[in-house]
Amino acid sequence: MIFDPRPIGVFDSGIGGLTVLRELLLAFPYETFIYLGDTARLPYGSKSGNTVRKYSEQNLKFLLSRNVKAIVVACNTASTQINEDFYEGLPVYNVIDPGSHLAALTTKNNNVGILATRATVKANSYEQKIKMQNPLINVFSVPCPLFVSLAEEGWHDDVITEQVAERYLSDLKNKNIDTVVLACTHYPLLKKPIQKVLGPSVNLIDSGVAISLILKIDFEKEKVKRTDQKNAPDQLLICLTDTGLQFENLSTQLLADHTKSKIIFETVSVI
Ligand code: DGL
Repeated sequence: MIFDPRPIGVFDSGIGGLTVLRELLLAFPYETFIYLGDTARLPYGSKSGNTVRKYSEQNLKFLLSRNVKAIVVACNTASTQINEDFYEGLPVYNVIDPGSHLAALTTKNNNVGILATRATVKANSYEQKIKMQNPLINVFSVPCPLFVSLAEEGWHDDVITEQVAERYLSDLKNKNIDTVVLACTHYPLLKKPIQKVLGPSVNLIDSGVAISLILKIDFEKEKVKRTDQKNAPDQLLICLTDTGLQFENLSTQLLADHTKSKIIFETVSVI
């Protein structure tokens, strides 16, 4: 067996991709990860497809320059624009394929809700991919742009967030949905208020969990080679395109139970 000690690159516009990184850290504790948060240009969800594509390509290029062995696009909005499975020969994972696959497998009554940014709803990728698996599934998409700011602010279990969720989700509650995809990686941070508003019988799908399952299969197939390290790496590098104390504090809290590595922050330029 050939091993590969190089890191796996993960990127998002901001803090949301940490919900994916957390699952990856739990599933692959000996792998090294490098996270890029494009905080200077957040949010992506209110921007055009062309702009998000340009930013995403710059992020891929940046991670490539850090000698990664694979890249996880831990952002749904960016995933609507990056359709390639490889970039410069490296495997690239988007969050939409596993999320839509899991949603199609989970629904029992064929009514699925998609909560996403405006750009992701506009791109319509979830609806297309879910219907490719089962054309009988009804897909109801709801843009929830304020959820991104609430997640970045750290108001994860807050009465204001619950009120915002009530307002965004009131129509969806009448559609008899049994499965909802948290189709923005920021949204799993708001799982509690979202679940409270939708009710306990609705299954919430989190792309972080789905992508860890796919990566596990690809490690087994050796599409991506495992590290031969037998301990957690010393460092977890988080690169940000703009400095932010709020980001540093929040991410340290969010990752505390998921890694023993020392978190190092670096401000970078991807342009
Ligand atoms: N977390 C990103 C996503 O999954 C988008 C947040 C944003 O920048 O609008 O779509």
